[in-house]
Amino acid sequence: MQPVEIKKDIWWVGAVDYDNRNFHGYSLSPEGTTYNAYLIKDEKNVLFDSVSRSFTGTMLCRLAQTLSLEKVDYIICNHLELDHAGALAEVVARCKPEKIFCSQMGIKSMQGYFDCKDWPVQAVNTGESLSIGSRTIQFFETRMIHWPDSMVSYIPEDKLLISSDAFGQNISSTVRYADEVGTEYLRNAVEEYYYNIVLPFSSQVVNALKALSGLDIEMLAPDHGLIYRGKQSVDFILDAYARLAEQKPCRRALIIYDSMWHSTEKMAYAVANGLEEAGVPSRIMSIQRNHHSQVMTELSRCGAVLAGSPTHNNGIMPAMAAVLTYMKGLRPKNRVGGAFGSYGWSGEGPKIVHEWLESMGMEMPMPFVKTQWSPGHESLGQCHELGKAVGQALIIKCDG
Ligand code: FEO
Repeated sequence: MQPVEIKKDIWWVGAVDYDNRNFHGYSLSPEGTTYNAYLIKDEKNVLFDSVSRSFTGTMLCRLAQTLSLEKVDYIICNHLELDHAGALAEVVARCKPEKIFCSQMGIKSMQGYFDCKDWPVQAVNTGESLSIGSRTIQFFETRMIHWPDSMVSYIPEDKLLISSDAFGQNISSTVRYADEVGTEYLRNAVEEYYYNIVLPFSSQVVNALKALSGLDIEMLAPDHGLIYRGKQSVDFILDAYARLAEQKPCRRALIIYDSMWHSTEKMAYAVANGLEEAGVPSRIMSIQRNHHSQVMTELSRCGAVLAGSPTHNNGIMPAMAAVLTYMKGLRPKNRVGGAFGSYGWSGEGPKIVHEWLESMGMEMPMPFVKTQWSPGHESLGQCHELGKAVGQALIIKCDG
């Protein structure tokens, strides 16, 4: 693929990683991802970010098609995580830039990863700007989206926001623009990315959206996935982030379960029937068959979580512990919860799941349901009641 001129004298020089299936080492990326890097050619030639180390050659080749490498004057590191800085040492060695700009926190990351004591690094803060000739680059720190060092760069003359991790998606494609794919496909990719990467930092997203609200953005170029061009496309992603950050309860429930001998599985289906009676549709996901990041993506559309685990070694099933650990770390808010599970001997599992959901701040309208051996008519009825109670509480939460 050739470098792509996204605006006059502004080029995409990144790399498409079709084979990445484990984004950042923990999130399923079924279609790979894209590491976007951008070059602005002006009186000073400026490179924004780089790519994962294994794509260094690909990126340098694209960069060299637009400009001799030694003509790169400035490098702006909006974020130093290695999917954007993995190529940095070689880029610095080849380009020998006059200056490298990053946030104060970015310097810490840079010093942690690289032997950079001889690099011409300069820290920038929110509100500072840099003239590069006919253009100006304005810096906004966006701490925690996705790391403490993160910042975005706005070029007012082009109405262009280069947004680092914010507003990205894990899409690998030969097309570069969000309006070249279907809206539902794009929305799903945005939700998947947000709920697995950005969700814990939703309050920072709200602040960032406020800080950026005064900017006239005609093009929004994230460091992952497709670029938003034109008002409709830019509004789409800004509105999506506002909605996702708000975590307003949705009238839909997520049921996750693990099962050894189908007993907890039967309970999960009875819970779904109770939700249905309350008027709440649900999605049942076996965590043996669904990756933890698929569970989180589904949670983006659900206002309730019902989790079921058999008792295993006086605890819960290891896969359920992994999902709940992952979910808790991503700090979902405004959810209703419920727990259930079967047991053979000691029976601690459902209580542990209940406490775990409660510790995430979930509203728990009913005690956990547990059943010994195989669920009979009575315990399936209790599961039905659990689903119904959670469904009713969710409806009140959504209407309230
Ligand atoms: Fe895409 Fe936080 O790195």
